[in-house]
Amino acid sequence: MPVRRSIVGIDSPARLAAALDAAQYLADDGLSTAGYLALALGKPLLLEGAPGVGKTEAAKAIASVLGRNLIRLQCYEGIDAAAALYEWNYPRQMLAIRQAGDTYLNIYGDDFLIARPMLDALRNPKDSVLLIDEIDRSDHEFEAFLLEFLSDFQISIPERGTVRAEEAPVVILTSNRTRELHEALRRRCVYHWIGYPDPMREAQIVMMRASTVARETADAVVAAVGRLRQEPLAKPPGVAETVEWAEAATLLHSQGSPWPTAFKRAIGVALKDQDDLEFVAPRIDALISGAAA
Ligand SMILES: Nc1ncnc2c1ncn2[C@@H]1O[C@H](COP(=O)(O)OP(=O)(O)O)[C@@H](O)[C@H]1O
Ligand SMILES: [Mg+2]
Repeated sequence: MPVRRSIVGIDSPARLAAALDAAQYLADDGLSTAGYLALALGKPLLLEGAPGVGKTEAAKAIASVLGRNLIRLQCYEGIDAAAALYEWNYPRQMLAIRQAGDTYLNIYGDDFLIARPMLDALRNPKDSVLLIDEIDRSDHEFEAFLLEFLSDFQISIPERGTVRAEEAPVVILTSNRTRELHEALRRRCVYHWIGYPDPMREAQIVMMRASTVARETADAVVAAVGRLRQEPLAKPPGVAETVEWAEAATLLHSQGSPWPTAFKRAIGVALKDQDDLEFVAPRIDALISGAAA
């Protein structure tokens, strides 16, 4: 298979993992391999997983490793091409027309074009990473439009002509999997499912992200969060919640709260849903048992 893009210094999954590590992101072998292949083959990287497992952060870290700007397109219900590509600045056009009088005016010049993330990425494929975040929030129509964009990396602006990228831009798509994505879209990408990190890795992430936290505290919080994720919660804690819970409990402990009370008192940074808190309340001691760091 032809390698379509060579990224300086990142010539293996292990190199990518090391670079991500230096950018404060701990990737496992599956993610660094998928990321490396996407870069090397010039394909979009599709990351799927539960909320809070590090999908958006992975895109940020990859952009940072490549020394590129992250251009983020946050998807939402009803997002359309105008929000993703470009819009004409009508008020400005109107004003200019009024002021121009009889003089010639190109109302489709750059001054009147508002570039949105996808056009931005097409124009600067060499120094940007395009993150299309949470595509599962968009509708099927937008997904079909995305597919077209990802197939040939060009768009047509009727008043201007076609804009084509000089090279395939680095594109990362994420989905929380609230719905299935089209087969055709998946086929276009290198796919990776991000699960919750294993306890060792999650404790390492806590230590990496929260410098005040002791190793025993990190281990205890990771164990408790692991148990919480086994429960039928509406909003299971993500990795960010693990980090914050460890930090918050450490703070309370430093102010005199003993273990494991400090964990209990700080539960509000791990669980942010009233029903979940009520559900967990009678079991809280068992869930954080052994959390006496
Ligand atoms: N592998 C990781 N290495 C370092 N930090 C991570 C990792 N995974 C998750 N995090 C932390 O968890 C937070 C939430 O991750 P995020 O990317 O927002 O989740 P998602 O986009 O999957 O919902 C990040 O801000 C980061 O602090
Ligand atoms: Mg995200």
